Amino acid sequence: MRIIAIANHKGGSGKTTTAVNLAAALADRGRRVLLFDLDPQASASHWLGAPEDSPGAAELLTDGVGLDGVVHPTRWPGVELVPASGGLARAEKYLARELGAEVVLRRTLERVHAPSWQYAVIDCPPALGLLTLNALVAAREVLVPVEAHVMALRGLAQLMGTLDLVRERLNPDLELTGILACRVDGRTRHAQEVVQELVSRFGERVYRSAIRENVRLAEAPSFAQPIMQYDARSAGAADYGALAEEVIQQERRR
Ligand SMILES: Nc1ncnc2c1ncn2[C@@H]1O[C@H](COP(=O)(O)OP(=O)(O)OP(=O)(O)O)[C@@H](O)[C@H]1O
Ligand SMILES: [Mg+2]
Repeated sequence: MRIIAIANHKGGSGKTTTAVNLAAALADRGRRVLLFDLDPQASASHWLGAPEDSPGAAELLTDGVGLDGVVHPTRWPGVELVPASGGLARAEKYLARELGAEVVLRRTLERVHAPSWQYAVIDCPPALGLLTLNALVAAREVLVPVEAHVMALRGLAQLMGTLDLVRERLNPDLELTGILACRVDGRTRHAQEVVQELVSRFGERVYRSAIRENVRLAEAPSFAQPIMQYDARSAGAADYGALAEEVIQQERRR
């Protein structure tokens, strides 16, 4: 099972849009995907129509409930969800007092012996607190969505520093599987310059697929559908489809 954390502490960088649509695009290609919503805002859970009071990530992290107890089906074949659940903000405070709090999710996933999924995709909150750390310690890969705006580049150094520390102290195997340029507005030179800057800093680690600014992507959550279902012919559906292909290709290269 490939475990991919979708992380960037900057708010609104495209994490949830990427987590949900990448999961759905992988499932469209026959992969079974487990989507974790680790954000107390619960955007992905709402998008996927998880019932408000269902047990989820909070129970997994603090009550010792096993994975079986928190996985929910979704309307999309191939995608299952661990919803954020109401107590997640409290769960983070609780974890802060626990020894080894960063490794709880990892330990839970290690106990799954024959995973039914090929991918676990983890949607992180916009902070580098214990919830994101749990994702970075449980994951083998981190995918960083970056809004194609110069302001978005500034926080990247801090994020890379955190990834280095996580590797050094907690998870030496963590790999930056890719930087994903999001909300690329093709009409402005500025957006192109930001993408070029990313490529010059991160080279091969920038996905060739970039996600264009596309209003259909912003509309899809209100209709509780992934972009391929909401508007299969949109630029957003094409871009997330291309990303899924590239993510699958990474396996062949390994
Ligand atoms: N390519 C895009 N085109 C247009 N709108 C987009 C695109 N990507 C994301 N959005 C919109 O931008 C907003 C922020 O995106 P999203 O929620 O995915 O970011 P996030 O990183 O998960 O935010 P948070 O940090 O709050 O969790 C949302 O309203 C979303 O619909
Ligand atoms: Mg989000």
